[in-house]
Amino acid sequence: SWTTGNVIEEQVAAIRAQVGDKRAICGLSGGVDSAVAAALVQKAIGSQLTCVYVDHGLMRKGETEQVEKDFVAATGANLKVVDASERFLGALAGVSDPETKRKIIGREFIRVFEQAQLEILREDGPEVAFLVQGTLYPDVVESGGGTGTANIKSHHNVGGLPDDIEFELVEPLRQLFKDEVRAVGAQLGLPDEIVQRQPFPGPGLGIRIVGEVTRERLDLLREADAIAREELTAAGLDRDIWQCPVVLLADVRSVGVQGDGRTYGHPIVLRPVSSEDAMTADWSRLPYEVLGKISTRITNEVRDVNRVVLDVTSKPPGTIEWE
Ligand code: XMP
Repeated sequence: SWTTGNVIEEQVAAIRAQVGDKRAICGLSGGVDSAVAAALVQKAIGSQLTCVYVDHGLMRKGETEQVEKDFVAATGANLKVVDASERFLGALAGVSDPETKRKIIGREFIRVFEQAQLEILREDGPEVAFLVQGTLYPDVVESGGGTGTANIKSHHNVGGLPDDIEFELVEPLRQLFKDEVRAVGAQLGLPDEIVQRQPFPGPGLGIRIVGEVTRERLDLLREADAIAREELTAAGLDRDIWQCPVVLLADVRSVGVQGDGRTYGHPIVLRPVSSEDAMTADWSRLPYEVLGKISTRITNEVRDVNRVVLDVTSKPPGTIEWE
């Protein structure tokens, strides 16, 4: 019968058999799936695994620390953190178009990740032949079921590595649904902040700033988002809502008054949604007291924000994210 313990035991044995005495690489995104996949593989092969975390500077408050400190403390994994925020901000400078932003972030991410892979390949030790991915059962069904390999094209290669290196995939979550993945993660000792995390897009806060992405705007949005999350958690609403994007309308200003002065600041949008699978969603009917508290705190505590608005659009027609 299905128990979390059985799944872990089976997968640990399967991973050991697959990887043998070679090495594996796993990219951590800060999300549940990659963290649980990495924790399982770590349990199976220990120091033969190296995890890579690309810090693109677009994460929310505390999320990078969760990976750097809490994940490592819970698993003992080897972690290589690449701080690439300068590079991402540079590439995003002057860009406001949502699809262009997404393409730039995706492209830079792959470049930085491949560079990190190459550095690991150059280290002394057994051959690095495996790439760990947090593919879940619904992803397998959606994509037609094949298992596979991944290529790394070493276009930044300066050190005499082959032109094209192929990794075999290790996908220990392929038979699991999301709630099962969370149970496995909890059993492996990962903290709730990682295991119960709500969905967060790969391009991060970069697609929650309507307008150009700058460091100042990111700092501002990070503060507003942290306040919203804190109050939603304090009100016990984390399990009721699917996620609550917090969006900065950086290209919009409106007039306000604070103390005895006129302000001309930016609006923050709250986008709380209820959903089963993110394909469709309804706007969440949050209690007015909670909304009021979030609004008061954001306008008091976040510089340059003088208005908080609530998105009451379902999906369709609105997507969950604004970009
Ligand atoms: P939309 O905005 O399309 O979002 O209604 C549906 C769900 O997907 C998340 N999302 C992403 N997740 N990379 C991701 O990993 C992305 O580029 C991305 N874009 C949107 C979004 O947060 C929501 O849960």
